Amino acid sequence: MKRRELLMTTFGTLGWLAANRIGAVETVSLRERQREIEPILEELEEFSGKFSNVPRTDGQLLNMLVKIARAKNVLEVGTSNGYSAIWLCLALEETDGYLTTIEINPERVKMAKENLKRVGLSHRATVIEGDGHKIVPTLDGKFDFVFLDADKGREQDYFGYLYPKKLAIGAIIAVHNAIRMRGAMKRYLEMITSHPEFDTVFVSTTLDDGFAISYWRRR
Ligand SMILES: C[S@@+](CC[C@H](N)C(=O)[O-])C[C@H]1O[C@@H](n2cnc3c(N)ncnc32)[C@H](O)[C@@H]1O
Repeated sequence: MKRRELLMTTFGTLGWLAANRIGAVETVSLRERQREIEPILEELEEFSGKFSNVPRTDGQLLNMLVKIARAKNVLEVGTSNGYSAIWLCLALEETDGYLTTIEINPERVKMAKENLKRVGLSHRATVIEGDGHKIVPTLDGKFDFVFLDADKGREQDYFGYLYPKKLAIGAIIAVHNAIRMRGAMKRYLEMITSHPEFDTVFVSTTLDDGFAISYWRRR
């Protein structure tokens, strides 16, 4: 019998608490986890152009931001085949959080679910098939981390569905391609960079494109 099961069987509620404490300590092996899934990450990266995935360093940045923010309730719009969702979910293993991710293309939804299963992270995410503009307004907030990577130029609309009611105070909104596609995103970028309640920085890990990362300050 595993140590966790033994504790739970022998000590009831106290054992449950102890077992979960052990669970928290076990998350230290996350780096090991990343090593285990490395072949799958590399396989997905071979097709990153076809599925418009973020580059690995952007995935790593998303992962780091979720951990720094200790985010527990994450929303992604634009799942594609689940590559960025994997990086988000790896971070959520550490924060004990959950991802809701939306994708309009049924084939990609299938692939994302399959890929999350392959890396053992299905329990951290719900992949919703449909149009983000219909689904986001129906979701229960509050999200503490939002990653927008779907239909470029519609960020302002997603912001409108989320702010203020579906965002937790201190929420982060990360918008991908905010350098290369800044023309298409002009309306959103002008709004968010002049918004009195948000701090926004542009971050590039690749020197050709990157994120607009906005933090909703406490009022
Ligand atoms: C840039 S890709 C997302 C890549 C993904 N975030 C990653 O890095 O692995 C954009 C995705 O958004 C999806 N998409 C476009 N418009 C959408 C909408 N209105 N609602 C949901 N998904 C949408 C596309 O089908 C496409 O798969």
